[in-house]
Parts: sequence; C-alpha cells; structure tokens
Amino acid sequence: MDKLLITGGRCLSGSLRISGAKNSALPILAATLLIDEPAIIGNIPHLHDVTTMIELLGCLGAQVVVDEKMRVEVTAAHLGQLKAPYELVKTMRASFVVLGPLLARFGAAEVSLPGGCAIGARPVDQHLKGLEALGAEIEVVDGYVRAKVDGRLRGADIAFDLVTVGGTENILMAACLAEGTTRISNAAREPEIVDLANFLSAMGARISGQGTSVIEVEGVQRLHGCEYSVMPDRVETGTYLIAAAATGGRVKLQQTDASTLEAVLEKLRAAGADVRVDGAVIELDMHGRRPKAVDIETAPYPGFPTDMQAQYLAMNAVAIGESRVTETIFENRFMHVQEINRLGADIDIQSASTAIVRGVDSLKAAPVMATDLRASFSLVVAALVAEGTTLIDRIYHIDRGYETIEEKLQLLGADVQRVR
Ligand code: UD1
Repeated sequence: MDKLLITGGRCLSGSLRISGAKNSALPILAATLLIDEPAIIGNIPHLHDVTTMIELLGCLGAQVVVDEKMRVEVTAAHLGQLKAPYELVKTMRASFVVLGPLLARFGAAEVSLPGGCAIGARPVDQHLKGLEALGAEIEVVDGYVRAKVDGRLRGADIAFDLVTVGGTENILMAACLAEGTTRISNAAREPEIVDLANFLSAMGARISGQGTSVIEVEGVQRLHGCEYSVMPDRVETGTYLIAAAATGGRVKLQQTDASTLEAVLEKLRAAGADVRVDGAVIELDMHGRRPKAVDIETAPYPGFPTDMQAQYLAMNAVAIGESRVTETIFENRFMHVQEINRLGADIDIQSASTAIVRGVDSLKAAPVMATDLRASFSLVVAALVAEGTTLIDRIYHIDRGYETIEEKLQLLGADVQRVR
C-alpha cells in the first residue's frame, strides 16, 4: 500500500495548474448515459474515482476512449445491461448518480445501494423520493435499488427535505428526458451542479435556475452529443491555498476560478493571507507569517465547504489563537483530529459537530493514517508544517481525489516522496 513521506518545515512556494473538478467530472460522465451519440469531455482529472466511473460506464456497455490529454469520449449507443453492481458502487458513492440517467433513457435501472461510509450514514432517500415523484416505481431488493417506469418519466414539483448535491444531480439528469416540466426546490447550489446543468444544456436540455435553490427543467424527447470541458476543481484549489498558508508560504494557482470559493478565500484573508485574484489565477502570500486562528462552520454552497473543513482545521492547529470548527453536513467528519493530535496538536472534539482547536507553535513528525479523502490532505498540511519526517499511511484515499499529489507538492518546493 502506498504511503507518503513528508519532511516538514519548508514554506510552500511556487506555481501550479489546477486540475478539472472531480465532483463535476463524475456526474458529467454519468450524464453521457442519457444519449446514444458520442460526448467528448475535456479537463477530466486523472484520479481513481474517475477510473471507477469509466469502469462503471464500460461495465454497462458504453464505449469509452481516453486520450493522452485525458479527453474522454463516451458513446452509450447500446448498453449491454442496466445494472450497476455492488463491487463498483461500494467503492464510490458517486456511482449512484447513474440511476437517474439510466431510468430516464431506458425506463429501468438497477443500482446497488452505496451503503454507509466512514464520514457518515449518507442515505439516498431524497434521490428515491425525487425519482418516485417523477413516476418511477422503486423497490429495494437484496441491497439493490430497482427502478422502472412505464413509458417516460413525468415532470413534477420536487422539494428536497435537505440540500443534497447527489440527489439534485440524479433528479436533474432524469428530468431532462421526462415528459413536461420539473421544478426542483431546495436544490443544491454548488458550482458542480451548474457545470452539470451547462453540460446537459450543451446536449440540448432545457434547464433554468441552476446555481439557485429552484431549478426548472423542461423535458425533451431526446438529447444529442456535444463537446464540453469540466470546470476547475475548487476543492483542490482551496486545499493548496490552505496548505501554502499553513506553511507561511506563497503560491500562484493557475486555471482555476476564484468565484467558486469565495467563502474559503474570505477565511484565508481573515487568517492573515494576502489573496489576489487575476482572471483564472489566484495568488496567496502569507509573507512568512503564522496564520491567525479563525472559526469556520461548514454549510451547503455558498457556505464554507465540508470538503475543506479538515484542511482548514489543520491550519488552525498551527495558528495563533483558539478557534471553533463546526461541521454541519456529515455526522462523523472529525476522524482526522486524532491523527493531527498525534503530531502534537491541541484539538478537543466537544461534540459530534464541534472541535475546539488551540493553535500550537509547532508540530512534531509521527506516523499517521489517512481515514478518508479530504481528511487525508489535512494530514499532509500538518506534516508540511511539522518538524521531522512524517509517514502518512493509506494514501489511496488521497489518490481518489488529488491528481499527482506528490508532483504538485514538489512543484511548490515540498519535500515529499511516495513509498510502497
Ligand atoms: C457531494 C460531494 C462530496 C461533498 C458533499 C457535500 C460528489 C461526488 N461528492 O456528496 O464531496 O462532501 O456533496 O457537499 O459530488 N443526505 C440524506 N439523504 C439523501 C442524500 C443526502 O440524508 O438522499 C444527507 C447526507 O447524508 C449528508 C447530506 O445530506 O449528510 C449532504 O449529502 P449530499 O449533498 O447528498 O452529498 P453527496 O452528493 O454524497
């Protein structure tokens, strides 16, 4: 199993290019199941989760061609089966978003329940409630969701009980081929939803309101092929900015989009970072200073993203002062705290949703273990600051969501090696 060996104590400094967004690429790849013509998608990040989605499309019978620039061409003209097996869905919850497109185009689909995962129970009740409102008959048998509809799905008014990104994506995709108009209220407003809606529109879908909490979709009989480029990854962007700030460093991130991470930039400025935006470039400079402790509370977009909570918490661990970190999206997303404390941090988990972080002057290297995707990068942040060499085990979590992590960190001057 791969591990990362990081010798801390250097200020990150340099420039790098941000990859395409994982959380956009996955639903966009799933959306290619809505058409029988080729779709060509660029700026796809080279990540394990993307490989899993491509494998799933292939297993359903779609033809997938990937070129050396990670442009992916998918042709889902004829599918061999409409079943997404447990073996693939269990490794990545995002696979569940094939349900909406399969059902809308073929009138039937069978997709394994994703089950729980380390960061929380993560049910799919809202996805199923939405599809039922569109006229699907759904039963859960032997761990599989079996959905079918006679003829086409029918447009409906759907109000989610809570904001769900995956749920909004599944219903949005299904509604594109439904008969009549669908109105999704309490929809997720995440930039990745806007990216998916833009991709669907490029295929001929009629969507309005994406990026607000009410999305309207006027169903069409058929969608067509298109070419599209995935948006920049805002979580990767924020993660490298936080890592640089924690080390007192200075970075220039290219091919990104500052408008998708305002809440994070605001908190970085509050921590003392000098942040400048020029078109698709974000520059951050800490001028060698230690960050100031800043409270954060996660919330659906445009709030502070749960996917950057762990990294920001790691920065607070070495900041000047005490801060409160509140997690409101997932019920078990503080697993990194115990590991960061192994490096000498002073963090108390007060309740399932609150951690109190008392900033310390320095951290000391120790072996640690990655527990989930974003949490694992918080260990990287801590290791970059710590004195000595930290060994981070189980980094397959990191490889699910961060492209060529050691190369990118080396570009910023970090002392990082992958070991087996
Ligand atoms: C997506 C992101 C993930 C991010 C999360 C929240 C992808 C591939 N993943 O995950 O990185 O952390 O959004 O921003 O885009 N819930 C229910 N019932 C449902 C659906 C969700 O109770 O039917 C709950 C979940 O358990 C969770 C909350 O709603 O507590 C938000 O989940 P959701 O927005 O659906 O997250 P994902 O789409 O799985």
